[in-house]
Amino acid sequence: MNAAPSTLQALPRVAHPLPLFVQQYQENSELICAELIGGLQAPEAILSPKFLYDRLGSKLFEAITELPEYYLTRTEGWILQAHSQDIANSIGTGCTFIDLGAGNCEKAAHLFEGLRPKQYVAIDISVEYLRTNLARLNHQWPTIPMLGLGADFSSKLELVSTVCSSKRVFFYPGSSIGNFSIEQAGLILQQLASQAGEDGWLLIGMDLVKNSAALQAAYDDPLQVTAAFNRNILLNVNRLLGADFVLSHFKHVAVFNQQFSRIEMYLQALQETTVRWSALGSGIRYFRRGERIHTENSYKYSFKGAEELLNNNGFSIAHYWFDPHKLFCVFLAKVRVN
Ligand code: AVJ
Repeated sequence: MNAAPSTLQALPRVAHPLPLFVQQYQENSELICAELIGGLQAPEAILSPKFLYDRLGSKLFEAITELPEYYLTRTEGWILQAHSQDIANSIGTGCTFIDLGAGNCEKAAHLFEGLRPKQYVAIDISVEYLRTNLARLNHQWPTIPMLGLGADFSSKLELVSTVCSSKRVFFYPGSSIGNFSIEQAGLILQQLASQAGEDGWLLIGMDLVKNSAALQAAYDDPLQVTAAFNRNILLNVNRLLGADFVLSHFKHVAVFNQQFSRIEMYLQALQETTVRWSALGSGIRYFRRGERIHTENSYKYSFKGAEELLNNNGFSIAHYWFDPHKLFCVFLAKVRVN
């Protein structure tokens, strides 16, 4: 029995209309297929981590954030809650609060009380997931105008004109910047600085370098939720490409690369296996036993490295906050006007 429609009707009517939702990029399936196929046919096969976040992938990531070993989300949440008043005092009320990779929008909501934003803009690549969560948030905070943007801001960030232009605060939590190389991360920050404008801010969470056993455990948990999250990318690729990856032929591998200060995630072939797809005139890729598909990097910053990244790319740090064990750092930075 499906009780959803009547349950929805039974919800009390909110004063504020449901959030506006804009699908910013036209999901161009030909481009997506070409990107995926290019990665699969590379000598060292690679899939972009953005393909980890289909509907199920977003839920698996949410489960990861509950794992004892995955300290990032809870540590950042602690920092944000402990210092929400400092953050609000620095920024002041009435900002345009723009949440990058909003996901379940939970972290932003912690700051609403102090910040009282005049608009909340949630951006995420996983559109359906965002839609559900934004509707719930809108119900809890009916007086804050909200806007959802389905967009992949890693390629290009262009805010629609319905995003207020004054006092923009970009919120980039979760150490998501860690998915990018230092060069790419720098370019993203430069884009944010120019989109934020002269009175703009950035509130960003970054994971810090620590002993590799702790890092390893956070990305290879004994419950194997991270393994499921990683292997789910193959289900998504099967759907997007009409491919026939057999999930049991691949295992999850996570290693900390000291030289590059990053966790690397792979899917490693347990046996030789051949994958076929029907998209874009069809194709095939053979994997030797032990061959890997690179699915994600997660860079870990030293405090100095994080400072440099921000200072070299359009921002100046106003404040920063650690947790007591210095596992994680949240920076509040102001756009630097030259
Ligand atoms: C969402 C990119 C911050 O790198 O820690 C979690 C993704 N991958 N476990 C991270 C992730 C494996 C996560 N970010």
